[in-house]
Amino acid sequence: MVFAPLVEMNDGRSIPVIGFGVWQVPDDVVVDATLKALEVGYRHIDTAYLYLNERGVGEALRRSELDRDDIFVTTKVWNTDHGYDETLRAFDKSTGLLGIDEVDLYLIHWPTPARDIYLDSWRALIRLREEGRARSIGVSNFHEAHLRKIIDETGVIPAINQIELHPWLPQTHMRDIDGRLGIKTEAWSPLGSGRLIDDPVIAEVAAKHGKSPAQVMVRWSIQLGNIVLPKSVTPERIEQNIDVFDFQLDDADMAAIATLESGRRTGPNPDEFNEA
Ligand code: A2P
Repeated sequence: MVFAPLVEMNDGRSIPVIGFGVWQVPDDVVVDATLKALEVGYRHIDTAYLYLNERGVGEALRRSELDRDDIFVTTKVWNTDHGYDETLRAFDKSTGLLGIDEVDLYLIHWPTPARDIYLDSWRALIRLREEGRARSIGVSNFHEAHLRKIIDETGVIPAINQIELHPWLPQTHMRDIDGRLGIKTEAWSPLGSGRLIDDPVIAEVAAKHGKSPAQVMVRWSIQLGNIVLPKSVTPERIEQNIDVFDFQLDDADMAAIATLESGRRTGPNPDEFNEA
């Protein structure tokens, strides 16, 4: 069993530096995958209303023999639920599916700038945190202007900004913005949605350390200061992806991986993504 160290957020709460990502994992598959993750040491699960698997994640939480408070659970409000009342209702829907009263972290999934009402959702998240139902609150896929808007209007700084981040897209600018504001950056699709697994540069670094390409990418992201959310439904990979605390990438490894930056995204650009 391998446990991921905790990282402190700007609200004083702690979050495990690796979370189990369950995007694109069907509701029936997610139960066993999450149980496997908990069995090998993950204590942080990252889901969302959109993933349509909150029910399965909740079932795994109940079936595991762990205390609820030993597992950090994140979920997110979807684009169609933006707005103050809508977001409060979406929270109830998500916690109902998860079968828990409180989530550890509630995020606005995308800013959806065309609707431009994420500020109302942010105000709802502030209320949920005040009520203790969302223990921490944050955002996902926010760029600087989106962050500035919610912070300027409310004075409340998100604890987390979860963004697409992998060797093609190291997000140096957004990590810098987050860092200056005291926001922790979380990396979604840290393996480039699996597309970077066969990259020769990653393979060379992996061979040098006797680790897998996925382990190198998770480790690289942690060394950049991120909280990392690898996704897998394959038991050996689930176990492998958290086993990254017995080696360290040196400056030459980090520099080699830095050469892979191309700006290529595997998901949409948040400035243009307004899907309902
Ligand atoms: P699978 O779920 O079938 O095991 P990301 O976290 O960047 O979104 O990447 C997820 C993709 O990478 C999935 O297709 C997943 O496949 C694959 N993957 C996850 N972990 C590993 C691993 N250790 N080795 C190879 N592929 C992996």
